[in-house]
Amino acid sequence: MEQTVGTVPEVILNSGHKMPGLGFGTAAHPMPPPDQLKTVLLEAISAGYRHFDTAAMYGSEEAVGRAVATAIERGLVKDRSEIFITSKLFITDTHRDLVAPALEETLRKLGQDYIDLYLIHWPIRTKQTANAYKLSEEDMLYFDIEEVWEAMERCSRLGLAKSIGVSNFSCEKLSKLLRKATIPPAVNQVEMNVAWQQRKMLEFCKEKRIHVCAWSPLGANGALWGSYAVMENPILEEIAAAKNKTKAQVALRWVYEQGATPLVKSFNTERMRQNLQIFDWDLTDEETCKIGKIPQAKGFTGHSFIFPNGQYRSVEELWDGEV
Ligand code: A2P
Repeated sequence: MEQTVGTVPEVILNSGHKMPGLGFGTAAHPMPPPDQLKTVLLEAISAGYRHFDTAAMYGSEEAVGRAVATAIERGLVKDRSEIFITSKLFITDTHRDLVAPALEETLRKLGQDYIDLYLIHWPIRTKQTANAYKLSEEDMLYFDIEEVWEAMERCSRLGLAKSIGVSNFSCEKLSKLLRKATIPPAVNQVEMNVAWQQRKMLEFCKEKRIHVCAWSPLGANGALWGSYAVMENPILEEIAAAKNKTKAQVALRWVYEQGATPLVKSFNTERMRQNLQIFDWDLTDEETCKIGKIPQAKGFTGHSFIFPNGQYRSVEELWDGEV
């Protein structure tokens, strides 16, 4: 982590571009109406967030773009370069001929001519007609990492994406990609929190100079795909009480101290402000050691992508045993 904008330190990615070391997540179910979401995002910008995580899948790209435009108009930020936006290629578009059109559509929704970071959302490919929330075996197609990555590299060369990366990739899939890549992925965005600590992934990515971003750093706190394993954890409770912090702050600080970037979602003004207050204190070695003993379980296994005759016939195959 280097330099500081306001209170949030910045990371320098392997692409040479800087990224604020705490991001604002926009995945929600149900998603608020666009105007309401735009208001929430403007509150987040006012609070100090400069890094927004969206995806074609979430339905939040338009609101992010509109909030950024309004923030510039109102002088909350000087210009577009003060905001870092990540979006993701959906599983219906993970084919070499569909990557650039999908990114162009994302840019149209955002009202931008470039994105800071574009990720392959999942190592999965489905038919374009598939309903991602209700997949059937007939929807599933073969995901070719190398071809899709080549198309991602073309988007980077065209200047449509300043940095490119992946999400929900195992170390093995990253290794396969790295063997062919001419531009290495800048980021792997994965589920990471005190209840799924990703030790192997962190070590692997550190060695390969790939930055880890953490989705659901609070375990999604009971959301559709999450659990209460983080926010109802007694060890976090004890540490938070001793330090006069909240459990969320301890959970986010822990991610940050592992060298990863938490992407935390809160559409509540007080909680989104609270979640930013993690950079002027630290965890002791003893506290980190206690957190290290929290039982580990992945919140979202990706079971909805598993089919007897699909590319991945088990959760173990999807994650190459890293589950
Ligand atoms: P809300 O939007 O009402 O604040 P994650 O980022 O791990 O996916 O977790 C998001 C969930 O955690 C959301 O349900 C969010 O609800 C909740 N949340 C976010 N920040 C806090 C906080 N500081 N304290 C309690 N819950 C939080």
